[in-house]
This record gives sequence, structure tokens and C-alpha cells, in this order.
Amino acid sequence: MEDIHVFCPATIANISCGFDVLGLALASVGDEMVVRKISKKGIFISKIEGQNLPKETHLNVAGIAGQAFMKKSTYQGGFEIEIYKQIKPGSGIGSSAASSAAVVVAMNKLLGEPFSPLQLVEFAMEGECSVSGIPHADNVSAAIFGGITLVRSYDPLDIISLNIPKEIYVTVIHPQIEIKTSDSRKVLSSNISLKNGIKQWGNLGGFIAGLYTENYELIGHSLKDYIVEPLRSKLIPFFHQIKLGSMEAGALGCGISGSGPSIYALSKGCNKAEKVASAMHHIYDKTGIDYDIHVSEINIEGIKVL
Ligand code: HSE
Repeated sequence: MEDIHVFCPATIANISCGFDVLGLALASVGDEMVVRKISKKGIFISKIEGQNLPKETHLNVAGIAGQAFMKKSTYQGGFEIEIYKQIKPGSGIGSSAASSAAVVVAMNKLLGEPFSPLQLVEFAMEGECSVSGIPHADNVSAAIFGGITLVRSYDPLDIISLNIPKEIYVTVIHPQIEIKTSDSRKVLSSNISLKNGIKQWGNLGGFIAGLYTENYELIGHSLKDYIVEPLRSKLIPFFHQIKLGSMEAGALGCGISGSGPSIYALSKGCNKAEKVASAMHHIYDKTGIDYDIHVSEINIEGIKVL
């Protein structure tokens, strides 16, 4: 195989109770990428459609993740990359993760899979680190493994794929403003109170127990964030109205998607998720801010070859 065309899902990190450790892949939104083997050594980005992003390898997250891969690879040739972006940078649904993860998965497939999925997550984290300043693995793990993932440990890296209840649907609203992950990390405090820690890890455990027992009520009760949401929600226009409207429309829970500005809600069943989308439309139509809304199932396969 000399070239490959892949789809890489958008992802929701944190899922309220799991800052930097939980991630979820969406079925209906994502980027595409074509990666081609070439004889010249190195990574070359020949085309980017959909967004205005740098083509220089060392300035593009796909180039940076690709270089991390090349450092550990014995391959003597190079790769040419075409990127087709659907996910806007700074949207909170894993734009940099999609580019970072897609390139390393595609390169690995072209070389006969010398690296494990866990190693690919490590390479993709270097792309993430270049834009957020922190090598967080929550988005790239969900993109590479698919489904809902838990980063149980960063050192050593340990990723667990969690059970996905059949009727879980996601609604995401993306207000068309940009919030850089690096900026939305600056508003966070590096210390948390023991009281908030207790609430947060209780909910993280509850969420995971809810996924395995397919207990939607428990999942909903657990989708709470006492640590990050109070600080970051101030950056997102009409966050509280969207959260209230989504809960009134029957969502199980609602919170900030990754570092924002997107806001996600989980619902039991597609009809509920559509009702939540209508409630979000109703609220945002009056704000004068452009937005997109997606209703999606969870993507169970992660990055796939097209
Ligand atoms: N866990 C990261 C954060 C995700 O919230 O900063 C960024 O997409």
C-alpha cells in the first residue's frame, strides 16, 4: 500500500467529571486525511483544505506528531500529507487531536503497523502539546481507540476503553468563536480543594459504573464538574442558558466540551438528543452568534480507512 485515506472523528474531552482523563469520539463529525509514502525522507504537507493552517511541518500539529513517529521509526523514506479539515481549530471538539492522531494512524498502517495504538497515542500527544502546552491524551485516545476512553495513568501511559451504553447520544453546539486550549488552561487553578476533589472523583467513579451497568440515571447524576466548569464557563457566551435549556429538554447531563467553546449534552435516545438540539437552537438563535449543532452517536471504531 502506497497511500491511504482516513476519517478521523471529532472528540469530546473531559465529559465534565474527567478533566484530562475522559474522551469520547463522535460518529457524525470529523476530518479526512490522505497520507502517501514518498522516497524523500521527512514529512511534507502538500495540501490543507477547509481551514487556514500552516503547511510547514514544524508548525502544524500533524507534522509535529508525524515527526515524533519518525523519530522512533526505522523507515528510511518519507510521507506526503493532504489534510481536509471539517473541525475548526479552537472549537473544543478535538481539531488538533484529529490531525495529530490521523497522521500517525495512517503512517502506521502504511508501514504494516509497527507501533501499538498506545505508542500512537504518545506520538499524537506531541502534536497536542505543541498547541496547548500540555501533552494531554484525552482527545487523541478517543480518536485512536474510538468509543469512550479513560486515561487511567499518564506515567506510564495507560488507556482503557470503556463500555458504551447502546442508547447514548450526543448533542454538541459549537458557537463560532475561537478559544485556544492554551488560553482556557490559563484560567484554571493548579490547586483544588479536597472537598471538590472528593465530589469530582465520586462522580468519575459513578460515571464509569453507570456506563458498565447501562444505568442512564447514574450517568446523568455523575456528569458534574466542580473544578473546571466554574472557571471556564465564563469564557463561553450563554453557557448557563444552554445547560439549563438542555436539562429541561431532557438531557442526562451537559457541560463544556474539552476546553470550549463547544458545549455537549448526553441523552438517552436519538429523539431526546434531537429535542436537546432544538432547545439549543432556540437559545442561540437569539444571540446573534453563529453556531453549528451536531447530533451524533458515539463512534466506536475511531479512525477508519475510507
Ligand atoms: N483536557 C483538555 C482540556 C482537552 O480541557 O484542556 C482540550 O481539548
